[in-house]
Order: sequence, then C-alpha cells, then structure tokens
Amino acid sequence: MRILVTGGAGFIGSNFLNLMVPRHPEHHFINLDKLTYAANLASLEAICDAPNYTFVQADIADARQVDQVFDAHDPEWVFHFAAESHVDRSILGPAAFVQTNVIGTFVLLEACRARWQGRVGRLFHHVSTDEVYGSLGDTGAFTEETRYDPSSPYSASKAASDHFARAYHRTYGLPVKVTNCSNNYGPRQFPEKLIPLMILNALEGKPLPVYGQGTNVRDWLYVEDHCEAIWLVATRGRVGETYHIGGGTEKRNLDVVHTICQLVAEETGRDPDSLRALITYVADRPGHDFRYAMDTTKIRRELGWEPRESFETGLRKTVRWYLNHRAWVEQVRSGEYARWLERNYAGREAHGKDAGR
Ligand code: NAD
Ligand code: DAU
Repeated sequence: MRILVTGGAGFIGSNFLNLMVPRHPEHHFINLDKLTYAANLASLEAICDAPNYTFVQADIADARQVDQVFDAHDPEWVFHFAAESHVDRSILGPAAFVQTNVIGTFVLLEACRARWQGRVGRLFHHVSTDEVYGSLGDTGAFTEETRYDPSSPYSASKAASDHFARAYHRTYGLPVKVTNCSNNYGPRQFPEKLIPLMILNALEGKPLPVYGQGTNVRDWLYVEDHCEAIWLVATRGRVGETYHIGGGTEKRNLDVVHTICQLVAEETGRDPDSLRALITYVADRPGHDFRYAMDTTKIRRELGWEPRESFETGLRKTVRWYLNHRAWVEQVRSGEYARWLERNYAGREAHGKDAGR
C-alpha cells in the first residue's frame, strides 16, 4: 500500500514513522510535512534512506501542493497528524490554527473525495485529541459520546476538523476513522510542551514554570503506545467510528514536575531538592482546562488494545532520551523558536516559588 502520513516530521508523526517504516517494508510511506518550527528532520534520521520512505515538503492548506502530492503518489491510506499543536500558541495567534487544522484538514478531505469515489481499500485516519471535549471536574472521563465543548482556539480548530472528517464519511461515504488521544510524552517532543520543557530546564538550572497552582490534571500516554493504537484502529477498527486512546495515568502537573526533578537528579547525580527549588509559579493559561481523562473501554473491548509503558518507565526513558540527544535539542531550539520565545515570553513575571507541595 501507498500510505501518506501528514506531519511526519513532528513529535507523534516521527515516532509513528520510526516504528512503521522498518516494520512494514511491504508498504511505502510518504511523509508530507510543511516543516514548521515544530518539525525536525533529524527525528527521521534512522529511516530517511529506507527504500519504502519518501519525504515531500508541502503545506496541507495549499490545495495545489496537496493535489500534486496526491497525483504523484496516489495514496491509498492517509494518516493525518499534521497540525498546529500547542495550546499557548493558539491563544497568542489563532489564525495559523484555523489555517492548518481546519482548512488543511478540509483540503486533504477534498483531495481524497475527488479521487477515492468508487475505489476500495481507502482510509482517511484522522488523529485528534481529548481537548475537543473541554474540561472535566474532579471525577468522570470522556467517552466517545461526550458532547464537544472546546476551550482554546487549538481545541476549537481540532473540533472543527473532527466534524469535517466525520461529515465527509456521512455525506460522501469517505472511509474515515477518528482517534482522540490524551497527552502524549516521549522522545522527539518539541520542548515547548510541559514534559520536555521541564526536563531541559531542570538540566540547565532554569526556572520550571508551573501555570497557576499546578493542580490541573492530564492523562499521560507514552507516544509509542499512541502510535500502536492508531495502527490497530486503522487495520482492525470499524470505518466511520471514533476510538478513544489514553493512558489511564492521571497526574497533577505539579506532581509530574516533582517526578521529573527526581528522575533528572537520579540520572545526573544532582540533588533533587536543588532542582525542585527551580519550580516557579507563573500566571495561569487563560481558559485552562482543569482535568482530562479518557474512557478507553471501546478500544480495549473491541480491539484488545492496552498501553505497554507505565508512566514511571516511560518518563525515565524520556529523561534519558533528552540527556542523550542534546544535538537534536539544539537543532529544534535554534531559529524560529528562539525568536518566538523572545517576542512572547521576555520579561514574563513569576508569582511564587515552590513551597514543597
Ligand atoms: P507537532 O507540533 O509536534 O508536529 C506537527 C507537525 O505537523 C510538524 O512536523 C509540522 O511541521 C507539521 N505541520 C504543521 N502545519 C502543517 C501544514 N500546514 N502542512 C503540513 N505540515 C504541517 O504535533 P504532535 O504533538 O506530533 O501532534 C500530532 C497530531 O496529534 C496533531 O494532530 C495533534 O492535534 C494530535 N494530538 C497530539 C497530542 C499530544 O499530546 N501531542 C495528543 C493527542 C492528539
Ligand atoms: O490532551 C492532548 C493535548 O495535549 C494535545 O492535543 C496537544 O496538542 C498537546 O499540546 C497537549 O496539550 P496540553 O495543553 O495539555 O499540553 P502542554 O504540555 O502545553 O501542557 C500540559 C499541562 O501543563 C497543562 O495543564 C499546562 C501546564 N503547563 C504547560 C507548560 C508548557 C505548565 O504548567 N507549564 C508550562 O510551561
């Protein structure tokens, strides 16, 4: 099969390709990525010369470029990862999120609709997030039936893209599957997200900025478990269905940061208390969702999926990966990201230090 993967130079897309390209020599993988600030081709070094892998730089929101890729490669399956993915950026500048997440998804769906009618064996796998459901209180979990209620421009744009993907199935019969997943962590994640940011700042003795009081809860999943679940749904899940993916690993942000301090200390021989002293409370994220948790009964019952990695083992692996890949880190942190940080976060005020909570 010819398999198009959008956003394959980003965090989850690159982990997906690193797993699937060597495992499936019978399939050809075409990675379509615009190479935004969040991309790093160094994440694909292990597979870039594989005979069953091709990279194409293109923008999913540009119909002409997408048509060229479809005409050249005639993909049978599409795994759609490409997105603007960072909530804080969506608050500072939502336009790019509408452009890539909404228009880009629409352009891809149109490219498939124009070519796939009457052809069997096609699949559009839309990769989405638990954030489309908004926030939970202290109890409960999102099911596949929970009403959409997005809080941020990022989650609103992902919600819109989910609706388009499902509408193309209902209206045009396009073979669509949707997966919504909880927070991922692991190797190759861009260091603006909580876990890699805290690992690197702890290593470098920089402040560890915790939003609000650090009591918000996320359900963490090791990235390879997400990738395996996506492949399982694509190969064995039902067309037109949505499947939830999640780690069942709910943690308060502050507890995650404390664990990272402990692990970085153990791996580098430093004093964990000196790293915890770097914790700094900063202004909360506007519209900050309090808690996410995923009910994954459907994927477990129907497809037998289980995450393999525990939070403890996955986080230690992740800390080690960042310790051992400083060149990768320097590459992604140079250039556009450095300038963006300077523009948006220079002089950001802290409002408290960790009191050992
Ligand atoms: P990422 O930001 O690390 O990577 C996104 C990739 O998409 C980058 O390589 C970027 O260059 C590419 N891209 C962005 N705009 C593009 C465009 N217009 N055309 C082509 N390529 C473009 O994101 P990620 O964390 O790997 O997330 C991948 C997908 O998974 C997203 O759809 C996201 O919503 C979803 N998701 C992420 C998480 C998470 O915790 N990271 C959890 C659930 C779902
Ligand atoms: O839930 C899935 C989503 O997880 C994905 O759809 C998104 O693409 C992905 O970015 C992630 O969104 P979050 O907003 O949950 O992730 P982030 O790493 O930005 O933040 C995790 C939590 O940590 C959140 O409650 C905000 C907090 N935080 C984050 C940063 C970057 C801090 O306290 N300090 C920080 O510096």
